[in-house]
Amino acid sequence: MSNDTYFKPIFFVLFLFVNQFSWVESQTNGLPVDTVFTFPGPLPTILPDEGGFGKGIIDLGGLEIAQVSISNSTAQRVWSTYEGGPDDMGFSIFEPTDLPSNFFKLGFYAQPNNQKLFGSILIARNVSSTSLLPPEDYIEVGNTTSLEIKQDWPAYVWQPVCPDGYQALGIFVTANPEKPLPTQQYTSCVRSEFTEQSEVGTLVWGIKGVSVFNLRPVIRGPQGTGLYTGTFSFQGLSSTPPPPLFTLKNTKLNMSCMPSEAQTRVLFQTYSPLIYFHPNEDFLPSSVDWFFSNGALLYQKGNESNPVPIQPNGTNLPQGGSDDGSFWLDYPVDKNLKETVKRGDLSSTKVYLHIKPMFGGTFTDIVVWIFCPFNGNANLKFLFIKRISLGDIGEHIGDWEHVTLRISNFNGKLWRVYFSQHSGGTLMEACDLEYVDGGNKPVIYSSHHGHAMFSKPGLVLQGNGENGIRNDMEKSDKVLDCGSGYEVIAGLSGVVEPPWLNYFRKWGPHVVHNIEKSLEGFARILPGWSNGS
Ligand SMILES: *[C@@H]1O[C@H](CO)[C@@H](O)[C@H](O)[C@H]1NC(C)=O
Ligand SMILES: *[C@@H]1O[C@H](CO)[C@@H](O)[C@H](O)[C@H]1NC(C)=O
Ligand SMILES: *[C@@H]1O[C@H](CO)[C@@H](O)[C@H](O)[C@H]1NC(C)=O
Ligand SMILES: *[C@@H]1O[C@H](CO)[C@@H](O)[C@H](O)[C@H]1NC(C)=O
Ligand SMILES: *[C@@H]1O[C@H](CO)[C@@H](O)[C@H](O)[C@H]1NC(C)=O
Ligand SMILES: *[C@@H]1O[C@H](CO)[C@@H](O)[C@H](O)[C@H]1NC(C)=O
Repeated sequence: MSNDTYFKPIFFVLFLFVNQFSWVESQTNGLPVDTVFTFPGPLPTILPDEGGFGKGIIDLGGLEIAQVSISNSTAQRVWSTYEGGPDDMGFSIFEPTDLPSNFFKLGFYAQPNNQKLFGSILIARNVSSTSLLPPEDYIEVGNTTSLEIKQDWPAYVWQPVCPDGYQALGIFVTANPEKPLPTQQYTSCVRSEFTEQSEVGTLVWGIKGVSVFNLRPVIRGPQGTGLYTGTFSFQGLSSTPPPPLFTLKNTKLNMSCMPSEAQTRVLFQTYSPLIYFHPNEDFLPSSVDWFFSNGALLYQKGNESNPVPIQPNGTNLPQGGSDDGSFWLDYPVDKNLKETVKRGDLSSTKVYLHIKPMFGGTFTDIVVWIFCPFNGNANLKFLFIKRISLGDIGEHIGDWEHVTLRISNFNGKLWRVYFSQHSGGTLMEACDLEYVDGGNKPVIYSSHHGHAMFSKPGLVLQGNGENGIRNDMEKSDKVLDCGSGYEVIAGLSGVVEPPWLNYFRKWGPHVVHNIEKSLEGFARILPGWSNGS
C-alpha cells in the first residue's frame, strides 16, 4: 500500500469532523480550554551547537519522533463533555492534524476543560521501512451512548489491533458508530523494539465509573528509557478491558538531545523562578558557603568538646561513607552568632542546580535546590525527622527545599514544575503558573517558616487535625531571584562537585546525596515527584 492511498480516507473523515467542529466551538465558548496557552515571554533561544537539543526531532535508534504542541492550528477537537473531572468542567479530546510528511499519529490527546489548551503529543516517522505499520483492525473500547452526561454527541472509542511484533500506543475517538476500516489510519502500530510498558498517570477526567488517564512509562527517573507520549486511556466504558497500551522506548539513550552547558544556562535564565518569602519570615535562606563561613561546626562522636569550623566550601567535611552517626553539623556555640546564622542571609543566597534527563532523554529536569540554615516550623518536628536530621545535640539545622523545572528537549518549552512541600509535593503544568511580568519566570511562594513551595499565595492546610500543616504564603520584599545567583552542582559534564555534596552525614544534604547516587533514594525522598510525574 502506498502512502497515498493510506492518507486519502483521512481527508474524508476530517471533512466530516470539520463540519461538526464549528458547532463544538459555539458549544464550548467560555471554557478555559477554548483559549490556547502561550508563554508571556519569548521562548529560550536554541543555540546552534553540535547537540540534538531543540532540533524538533529525536531519533530513538531507528524511529524518529517529533512533539506536536497542541493548539487550534495543530489539532482538531473531536469530542467534549462538559461535566465531571477537574472543577466539574469536563474534558476534550483532540486529534493532531496536518502532520509533516511521513509522520504518523500514535494516539489522540485529552485534557481537562478547566485548563487553557496546553500540552503535547508525540508523532513518529517511518524511518526504517518496518518501524511503523498500519493497524490490522480496530476494537471498540466502548462508547458514551448510555452515559448520561452533557456531551457533544456520543463518542466511539477505538483501539488499534496491531500486527504481530507491533504495539498500539493510544486510542482514538470518532463520532461514528461504524467500525473504521483498517485503511483509515487514525493511529499507527509501533515495532515492539521501540515500545515498553505504560501505566496510568494523572487523571484527566472521571464520572459515573468511567475515567480517562494520561499514560506514562512504568519505569521513570534519569535512567528510564520510556517516553511520555501524551496519549491517554479510557476506562470503564465496557466490562472487558481492552489489551494494554504501550509507550515509546528510546533504544539509543545516548543523551545527545540533552542541552549543552551553555544551552542549560539559557534555559535557566528563561525559566528561573522568583521565590517570595513570607513578610514575617524569620528564617531566610543563605548560600552554603555563608552558613559554613559564619561559624557552622562539624562535630565528631566521642570528641564533642572539640568541634571543628567548616571551611568555606566544605573542603574539610568527611567525604563519602554513610550516615553512621559519627559526624554531624551544628550552629556556632556563641548565642548571638547562632541567632544570626539561623536567620540566614538572602543577599548571599544562591540556588544549586542538578540537571537530569527524564523520559528517555526527551526532557530535562533542572532541580533547583534552596538551602535554609533553619527550618522554623516547630509544630512539625515529627514530620521532618525522616527528611532533615536532628543534630544529636540540639536543634534542627539545614533545611533543603526544591522546585524542579521539566523542559522539553524537542523545543525548549517548559512543561511542568514540581514544588516540594514537606515530605511530598505538587506537580503543576506550566499553563497553570503565575509568571513574572512579561517573562517566563514562574512565581513561587515559600510558606512561612516551613519553606514549603507553592504556586499561589494564601493559606493551604495539609494533613488533618492536630497534625495538619499550616502553610501561609504571601508576597513581600523578601524575594529570591534564582536566576541572579546559581551554581550547577551536578549533571553537566565538566562540573566540579562542591565537597559538601559528598558529605553524606547529618544536616540535610544527605538528601542531595540520595538523589545523586540512587534511584531508590530518589523515590523515597520525593514520593510525590517520582510517583506523580
Ligand atoms: C487560535 O486560538 C487563539 C487564541 O486562543 C486565537 O487568537 C486564534 O485566532 C485561533 N486561531 C484559529 C485558527 O482559530
Ligand atoms: C512504513 O514503511 C513500510 C515500507 O515502506 C510500509 O509497508 C508501512 O506501511 C509504512 N508504515 C506506515 C505507518 O506508513
Ligand atoms: C455502545 O456501547 C454499548 C455498551 O455500553 C453496546 O451495547 C453498544 O453495542 C455500543 N454501540 C455501538 C453502536 O457500538
Ligand atoms: C547519538 O545519537 C545521535 C542521533 O542518532 C547521533 O547523531 C550521535 O552521533 C550519537 N552520539 C553519540 C555520542 O553516540
Ligand atoms: C578531637 O578533635 C580535635 C580537634 O579537631 C583533635 O585535635 C583531636 O585529635 C581529636 N581527638 C580525638 C580523640 O579524636
Ligand atoms: C575550597 O576553598 C579553598 C580555600 O578557599 C580553595 O583552596 C579550594 O580550591 C576550594 N575547593 C573547591 C573544590 O572549590
